[in-house]
Amino acid sequence: MATYAFRLNGRSVSVDSWDPGQPLLYLLRGALGLHGPKFGCGLEQCGACTVLVDKQATRSCTMPVSRAAGRDITTLEGLGTIEKPHSVQAAFIAEQAAQCGYCTNGMIMTAAALLSRTPKPTLEQVKQGLAGNLCRCGTHTRILRAVMRASQPPPRVALRRATPKQSEGGV
Ligand code: FES
Ligand code: FES
Repeated sequence: MATYAFRLNGRSVSVDSWDPGQPLLYLLRGALGLHGPKFGCGLEQCGACTVLVDKQATRSCTMPVSRAAGRDITTLEGLGTIEKPHSVQAAFIAEQAAQCGYCTNGMIMTAAALLSRTPKPTLEQVKQGLAGNLCRCGTHTRILRAVMRASQPPPRVALRRATPKQSEGGV
């Protein structure tokens, strides 16, 4: 049995495995108890298992645990917190961009990696960036809207000092 050490969501962790080829996804969901990444196809075809490895969106269903050693891995759980969600997580909530939610992990992680490389993508770039992530529920329109929303700074609201009305005793 070998031990593999890496950074996971900002913490140093180590896991034991008999098989250096064991997919990272199995250890994330099993020994490490993180259920953000999902098992969809197991063949790098759907994107449900996506995590960030050294900031790159990576399919954890086929990544051998031996390749995780010494790397910096982020899962959906480490992207933001309930109190302070990542901008993509906040935008998915605001746009209600999920139905069954099975694809949501992969969509968010892939979008977060895309926005870290290209903070102001065009809609076409977002479509291309998410083209490898499947959504069986047809939530694509909301997902695209959420990613575009995450790439926009919140609109600035101009605050004007209220003028006291005569009826309220103003002069
Ligand atoms: S479960 Fe990894 S790509 Fe489908
Ligand atoms: S919301 Fe169900 S697969 Fe995308």
